[in-house]
Amino acid sequence: MKVAIVYKSVTGNTKLIAEAIKEAIPENELIYFGEPQDNINADLYVVGSWTDKGMCTKEIVEFLKGLENSSIAYFGTAGFGGSEEYYNKLFERIKTNISNSNRIVGKFFCQGKMPMAVRDRYVSLITEHPDDKKLKVSIDNFDKALSHPDENDLQNAKNWMKSILSI
Ligand SMILES: Cc1cc2nc3c(=O)[nH]c(=O)nc-3n(C[C@H](O)[C@H](O)[C@H](O)COP(=O)(O)O)c2cc1C
Repeated sequence: MKVAIVYKSVTGNTKLIAEAIKEAIPENELIYFGEPQDNINADLYVVGSWTDKGMCTKEIVEFLKGLENSSIAYFGTAGFGGSEEYYNKLFERIKTNISNSNRIVGKFFCQGKMPMAVRDRYVSLITEHPDDKKLKVSIDNFDKALSHPDENDLQNAKNWMKSILSI
């Protein structure tokens, strides 16, 4: 089977997950590892992105839209959430870019740390609005995301790919 890992990562979180997934794929089956590109001919497309304003990146949207009659496994990192409910909502939105002719064979998400500037903004907002509980939750979530992806996330990603390949 020919497998392609196609992903977008800015600060490296999604890249770490992509590399963990790569470890689960036999070397002779991995035909592509990198950013979206035309003319990748695989049997299984493992497509990943960081989350930008509640969606995968534009480049990944375009890549997904170009796939027909293919098997797709989707992975992503997200700063918020850390819950299946959040990831499911996110994936419902992402899935609208995948044509019905494809077969979605699985999805994997985990949290990914965010740039410190995001926390600085929350902190400055909370000084202006000290009673805003949502801001407090956002700061707590930011701090929770700081250690991710961790070893456990990487192992889970690898296991996820192994289980897909064993189907
Ligand atoms: C401009 C910007 C927008 C973001 N929007 C979201 C979002 O809507 N939902 C979310 O869960 N995380 C969001 N994040 C967090 C990133 O998706 C998260 O940190 C991700 O792991 C970054 O992946 P990367 O290191 O591969 O670039 C955002 C981060 C940035 C910088």
